[in-house]
Amino acid sequence: MAIWVFGYGSLISKAGFNYDERLVGFIKGYRRVFYQGSTDHRGTPEFPGRTVTLEPAEGEICWGAAYKISKEEDQEIALTYLEVREKQYDRKEYVDIFTELNAATPAVSGALVYIASPDKKVNVNYLGPASVEDIARQIVQAEGPSGPNREYLFVLENALLQIGSKDEHVIDLANEVRRIISEEN
Ligand code: SIN
Repeated sequence: MAIWVFGYGSLISKAGFNYDERLVGFIKGYRRVFYQGSTDHRGTPEFPGRTVTLEPAEGEICWGAAYKISKEEDQEIALTYLEVREKQYDRKEYVDIFTELNAATPAVSGALVYIASPDKKVNVNYLGPASVEDIARQIVQAEGPSGPNREYLFVLENALLQIGSKDEHVIDLANEVRRIISEEN
């Protein structure tokens, strides 16, 4: 049986595993927030970066990309790979993906999604809310083994643009980061 993985952050632009189909769509009841600390990809333990997680939000939707993985051996490789890549995301949820705003039935049911929960007991890297300026300053400073934190943000901004999704939180942050960088130069 095929499985689906839903990506709302870096997974939108880079799956990193074999898949048979990519579907642009959204999930209901969540919003994307730059509240997760990253000490392994886009920051270090001394200077954690910030990456996105999902926060429950009634009435809101979050756009992303879902990947269908059909072959059993591809599934095994993908899930092992994602265990490592998403290891700072402590929760796995299974979500319905919609492609039409007024559709009552989902296009895909039970897609796997990785979430970083706000529970500091199980997710020690969680950073939580802060002002746009504070989050932006942290992003400007941080860099990890996967590259600068600002690159993560700009790649996500561009990936969302490409799928036609306007996410104010991401756009505001990207604009603030650009402002800070231009001020520094
Ligand atoms: C995701 O992309 O779905 C998870 C968060 C990330 O890896 O950026």
